[in-house]
Amino acid sequence: MKNITKICCIGAGYVGGPTMAVVAKQCPNIKVTIVDLNEARIAAWNDPDVNNIPVYEPGLSEVVAEARGRNLFFSTDVDKAIDEADMIFISVNTPTKTYGAGKGMGADLKWIELCARQIARVSKSDKIVVEKSTLPVRTAEAVKDILHNTGSGVKFQILSNPEFLAEGTAVQDLLAPDRVLIGGDDSIEGKEAIQALVDIYAQWIPLDRILTTNVWSSELSKLVANAFLAQRISSINAISELCEKTEANINEVSRAIGTDSRIGPKFLKASVGFGGSCFQKDILNLVYISRSFGLSEVADYWEQVIIMNDHQKKRFALNIVRSLYNTVSGKKIAFLGWAFKKDTNDTRESAAIYVADELLNEQASIQIYDPKVVEKQIYGDLDYLETRSAELNKSGVTVFNDPYEACNDAHAIAVLTEWDEFKDYDWKRIYDSMLKPAKIFDGRNILDHKLLKEIGFKVYGIGM
Ligand SMILES: NC(=O)c1ccc[n+]([C@@H]2O[C@H](COP(=O)([O-])OP(=O)(O)OC[C@H]3O[C@@H](n4cnc5c(N)ncnc54)[C@H](O)[C@@H]3O)[C@@H](O)[C@H]2O)c1
Repeated sequence: MKNITKICCIGAGYVGGPTMAVVAKQCPNIKVTIVDLNEARIAAWNDPDVNNIPVYEPGLSEVVAEARGRNLFFSTDVDKAIDEADMIFISVNTPTKTYGAGKGMGADLKWIELCARQIARVSKSDKIVVEKSTLPVRTAEAVKDILHNTGSGVKFQILSNPEFLAEGTAVQDLLAPDRVLIGGDDSIEGKEAIQALVDIYAQWIPLDRILTTNVWSSELSKLVANAFLAQRISSINAISELCEKTEANINEVSRAIGTDSRIGPKFLKASVGFGGSCFQKDILNLVYISRSFGLSEVADYWEQVIIMNDHQKKRFALNIVRSLYNTVSGKKIAFLGWAFKKDTNDTRESAAIYVADELLNEQASIQIYDPKVVEKQIYGDLDYLETRSAELNKSGVTVFNDPYEACNDAHAIAVLTEWDEFKDYDWKRIYDSMLKPAKIFDGRNILDHKLLKEIGFKVYGIGM
């Protein structure tokens, strides 16, 4: 196997962009080209001002500034990048299917198949194809089938290398990952391909953190990792509802159980519910695969994680309605946060979208502030649900660039994202500008509730 000197990554999104920028930073000897069909996205990655790149992640602009133009390139010329590369990462979107068989459950592999066909059509030399997207177990079989049956006789090795970065800490996670997982064939060629990818990561990651497995274990492990993480959130959220009925305090319960080293403290923070492009989609995928093998108990077990999460979002919205005397019609409710978590501008599956949707059904008037999410994205997220017309979404929602303006004249504030800056606001000033009784629904339990109560707020946390 020859030394890898040129890499191409198809898909310049939240995974492809940061992942490959870090590879380019750490491996100046490798030329990394990230390609995408989306011209606007590539133009933004190439923006002379690195603060305008399309993915917000702490530290990412600096990484791009260092490597871009040296050995990191962004382009829309997919064919050329494929042709040149020794190794091709597929990092395209794999959303939940919205039509046909498996609608609402299975992964839509349309974009993966298109990539495989394009690689097969363009390649004139042997390539290693790396699945970076999260895929149902045994997808590599389909990719292999397409490559080997539609290619012009060149040899392909297919690896699975799922990405474990968390949005908001992507650069840090990529520079010092807990582990890198590489799945490949057990053949001599398969082992050589695995080694070629190990050699790249080994340029900055200790070898004992680079795990190699067969392809199927690697594909499945990514789904399972996300299912386990989401399951912890749904578990603590289930207990938060019980806390609210019993005067137990979820923060105290989390601390008490999290100090048990067998349980550990992470992912035990109760909240309005998890969001993001991955958890729900990957669990639905796991459920769908399990069901397709007739494993209904396995499928039902994991599906409950999603059911609990939907319940948590809904009960947060209904709690606002109930606390505002059973009607929010015409009332102003300020939203602090729209992104699915702090330190990202990604809003996919954000709990805020669903809470807003419920409140708009109740004819509330919503005033939104998020430090990184732009107005167009917020309206787009609501329109995507197709609950009501775009005009009605526009008339029910106003987006602000200033948090104090968003809270002005509001009956209530709902904290939907755990942005650090929310903790440091002048809460007395906000209180003075609101209608009374002024209510805060802290969907992330991040504010100083004692202080807020002293100011005069009526405070509703999760699980307390
Ligand atoms: N976002 C995360 O935190 C995360 C973490 C781990 C894994 N993943 C997985 O990584 C994959 C990508 O996720 P993402 O968040 O980066 O998605 P994304 O939607 O941000 O990016 C995907 C990009 O692929 C491009 N694309 C699609 N088809 C293409 C084609 N045929 N040729 C060229 N470009 C094409 C799209 O235009 C888009 O810009 C998904 O499978 C996801 O499940 C995501």
